[in-house]
Amino acid sequence: MKALRTLFTGKPPQKARLAILVSGRGSNMRALLDAMRLQKLDAECILVLSDREATGLGLAQKYGVPTELFPKKKGESREGFDARLAERLKKENPTLVICAGYLKLITAPLLNAFPNRILNIHPALLPAFPGLNAQKQALDYGVKITGCTVHLVDRGMDTGKILAQSAVPVQSKDTVETLSRRILKAEHQLYWRAIQQYLKKLPA
Ligand code: GRF
Repeated sequence: MKALRTLFTGKPPQKARLAILVSGRGSNMRALLDAMRLQKLDAECILVLSDREATGLGLAQKYGVPTELFPKKKGESREGFDARLAERLKKENPTLVICAGYLKLITAPLLNAFPNRILNIHPALLPAFPGLNAQKQALDYGVKITGCTVHLVDRGMDTGKILAQSAVPVQSKDTVETLSRRILKAEHQLYWRAIQQYLKKLPA
């Protein structure tokens, strides 16, 4: 398909452009940057943006990708912040906006700017255990299998259309830490694959 497109237009197809939003340590972001570097994920990272000082930003700089600290202003509403963020991101013309440990709830101005183009990864098998501390919720409930989910972001808390899931068995001696570690490993394997598949479904 790509070869055909090149044949007809004379130009190689443009790579998908990913803007990655982080708030923390950025291990999922790193897994995505690695997958792009190794050309397993056919996309380029055009921006890593964080709403706060985050380890992930420093890590992204080491990969040589553009980074930006984009904090909420004092007194700014969630919607006001998201409207400003939408304007900022639009300038980069991203194919997808990828949340990777981004801790702010996303509101209408940002959702409307990128309909069906914002993805998130959650450390549980949704619709079970949405929200914070999903691994603890799973342990407390006593489920024997949990995992991670890649989904589209909508107005709800982890309620958007599910794109991909990976199961992780709970072991009898698991603590929140050991379980979280195994789920995180699964996240790193799942996210880039889910993005790659989703990109194939998007109109060119
Ligand atoms: C991950 O567990 C992800 O599922 C959740 O936040 C965590 C982020 O971890 N949304 P990291 O910053 O990618 O290491």
